[in-house]
Amino acid sequence: MCGIIGYLGNHEATPLLLDGLKSLEYRGYDSAGIAVLDRTSGLTSTTKSESKVALLTARLQDCMPKGRLGIGHTRWATHGKPSLVNAHPHTDCGGRIVVVHNGIIENFRELRDELVSRGHIFVSETDSEVIPHLIEDASGEDLLTAVRGALKRITGAYALGIMSRDEPDLLIGARMNAPLVLGMCQDEFFLASDITAVIPHTKKVLILGEGEIVAVTPMGPEVTTLDGAPVAPKIIHVDWDVSQAQKGGFSHFMLKEIHEAPDAVANALRGRLLPDGNVNLQGCDLTDADLRGFQNVLLLGMGTSMHAALVGEHVIEDWAGIPAQAADASEFRYRRPTIGPETLTVVLTQSGETADTIVGLRQAKALGSYTMAVTNVVASTAARDSDAALYLNAGPEIGVASSKTFVSHVVNLYLLAARLASAHGRMPIERKQELSQALRELPEGLRAVLGREAEIADLARRYARFRNFLFVGRGINHAIALEGALKLKEISYVHAEGTSAGALKHGPIALLDQDFPVVAICTDGATRDKMASNVHEVAARGAPVLALVTQGEHHLDDVTTDRIEIPACDEAAVAILNTVVLQLFAYHVAVELGRDVDQPRNLAKSVTVE
Ligand code: F6R
Repeated sequence: MCGIIGYLGNHEATPLLLDGLKSLEYRGYDSAGIAVLDRTSGLTSTTKSESKVALLTARLQDCMPKGRLGIGHTRWATHGKPSLVNAHPHTDCGGRIVVVHNGIIENFRELRDELVSRGHIFVSETDSEVIPHLIEDASGEDLLTAVRGALKRITGAYALGIMSRDEPDLLIGARMNAPLVLGMCQDEFFLASDITAVIPHTKKVLILGEGEIVAVTPMGPEVTTLDGAPVAPKIIHVDWDVSQAQKGGFSHFMLKEIHEAPDAVANALRGRLLPDGNVNLQGCDLTDADLRGFQNVLLLGMGTSMHAALVGEHVIEDWAGIPAQAADASEFRYRRPTIGPETLTVVLTQSGETADTIVGLRQAKALGSYTMAVTNVVASTAARDSDAALYLNAGPEIGVASSKTFVSHVVNLYLLAARLASAHGRMPIERKQELSQALRELPEGLRAVLGREAEIADLARRYARFRNFLFVGRGINHAIALEGALKLKEISYVHAEGTSAGALKHGPIALLDQDFPVVAICTDGATRDKMASNVHEVAARGAPVLALVTQGEHHLDDVTTDRIEIPACDEAAVAILNTVVLQLFAYHVAVELGRDVDQPRNLAKSVTVE
């Protein structure tokens, strides 16, 4: 959940490290720091900030440390509060060995006690600080050997950048249960928590595997295991371009990413939705016989990805006629699930690194289930640990709140459900064609909805004065209501709850009065009339109702306070149009309230601890 960066090359490291940290800031922004080694003086210069990278940059403005080797860190606090003293990089007692760390060292207390008893002096409250001290403890050995020895003593998760005053031509990276890549140029190297930080410099990226160490010198990288056995480097070519990772003229990444929904849909369908309406899940297609072998489907995810899982649960059961169950991955891992080879486990994770989800995935795999990761990040942990990976191809998502990747997750689940339905012989050709046409037309429908942003923004500004919201829907739109509420609360800090409309009168309706508005998803679908009754019920309690209704429908005009009209189309496609409307609504409420939309408080883009 922290972001780490390292540089070794022929240029001044400081500005490159700062740029890298800026692009990694979505991973955490509680504090930041860099250390740069000056070959001439043999000294390391460390600068930290107790808040965002901007403060660090300001501190370095007048005096940029010189050096062509350096490491940097942007922190999301886990052990020890956000503070200057807890900011990385951390060093050993002698200040020779410098380390940045992302992850959690589970046995740090024992290690710390042991090191303290041997005279080591700790200055921070972090778990990370044990690492440079453990390395120092192996004094007499070269840095790489000492690092290997230290890492063998650690349990937990780590992605590390390490350097030492004694070896000014060596940058070391290591990973275990936390992501780390190395961007490779002709004569310079960028170690980073993810690809976003290296693509401004290179598209050639070495993906470090679990338990691997990369030793980077001017001669190039060498990858080994913790035991020193050589490993063939896994190098990929990334096709994201730099402009994809920038705001593209929008005021926030999140807004840009909401507007990228039509492209996200098109990219999800590309090559997968065939002209005849059949689906080919490129890269992870199983035969019809394989798919028929699955008697049930388990969908795992967290937060927004869990809401996508709920949509998947609905359509897989509805279209393919096989039992499907969405589960919160953090809860699933503590259950005793009765799954096995007859279960297809679908793991939904934008980042591919969410710790709760990865643990659930590994648990499902250990029980013999076939696992499929639906993720946006190529070669991420989820992708590598699963039997198959279905990539979102949605491009980098920088805004902490997921937007386009939720849309892409849902479309990919539609494709998977359709593929399962076909294999099970449960999707009539007419339905297949109807669905495929609706999906093909979806980018156009999304553009139409996005074109009405000014109207949605206007409503959002008017509703921004309320402190509480209830989002309701039925069927697929129950999941969309949950997601609409999550989006609003996480970026605007306004209390919002989502519930099935049917559950209203079993409790939540008691909350409602004229200061507690209801956002009701009332677009056409199997439960249209039931939804209408629920809207009447809440309106009767005096709650303002903002309704999403199908274009041209007026049956709720009398009982709703405001309406947003959604183009008429297939129910599956409408759910995605509704999603984007609710994303825009949340975004504009947050902007009206002056919130930090792209980096909401207390959150991080990639949650790599449980
Ligand atoms: C909310 C949000 C989070 C993530 C969750 C899982 O907008 O982004 O709820 O969906 O942390 O992240 P991934 O999908 O990367 O596993």
